[in-house]
Amino acid sequence: MRVYRKLLPFETSRLEHHLLRLDDDDRAWRFSGGVGEAFIVSHCRRIDGLQAVVIGCFEDGVLRGAAELWLDRSPAARAELAVTVERAWQDQGIGSDLLRRALVLARNRSARSLCMLCLLDNRRMQHIARKFEGSLSLLDGQAEADILVPYPTQGSLWEEAFADGLGLFGSLWDGFALQPPPREPAARL
Ligand SMILES: CC(C)(COP(=O)(O)OP(=O)(O)OC[C@H]1O[C@@H](n2cnc3c(N)ncnc32)[C@H](O)[C@@H]1OP(=O)(O)O)[C@@H](O)C(=O)NCCC(=O)NCCS
Repeated sequence: MRVYRKLLPFETSRLEHHLLRLDDDDRAWRFSGGVGEAFIVSHCRRIDGLQAVVIGCFEDGVLRGAAELWLDRSPAARAELAVTVERAWQDQGIGSDLLRRALVLARNRSARSLCMLCLLDNRRMQHIARKFEGSLSLLDGQAEADILVPYPTQGSLWEEAFADGLGLFGSLWDGFALQPPPREPAARL
């Protein structure tokens, strides 16, 4: 069963495992270069659920896709987004779905734009970004998508609350226990 929901604060190890399962190419596309396990572990520890929120796509209880939304409290209110989907789950609409859901979260936190940086040869990500209103520009060997974020409305607040309820219900249905996942050594992922 496929479930979309926000990661709870004690679940960053699920994101860690998901990012470690990405193959070398996808990992390099996510971080704009090759990174090792230690980098991914310390990256995930910075996620606090307030400044950085993660929406996950779970398949049978395992995190297979994630949208990391990094919020900016400056007057520019520019949020940054990074999306990842494991290879065997790509091309099923998960990446686009995660982006659409992240847009609702950014909107409800009064962000004015959503920025995504990716390498120039990452055509797949650029294709997804073009589905949304905004601009795509090239700088320093990277493509930068700037997606416009509309003002929040009662409707967008309800949409997020409804998605939260549905996600929690789906996870409980899937047998998800409200406790931290066990920590596994990377070799057994
Ligand atoms: C980018 C990524 C998140 C996309 O996830 P996904 O679940 O495959 O995305 P979707 O299935 O929603 O959409 C893929 C779209 O790209 C299109 N596509 C696939 N290969 C393509 C290519 N080489 N060039 C252009 N478009 C391509 C598909 O046809 C599909 O288009 P459609 O929705 O119009 O049918 C995923 O590939 C990924 O995790 N890549 C590695 C990490 C990364 O690059 N992250 C982005 C930088 S932060």
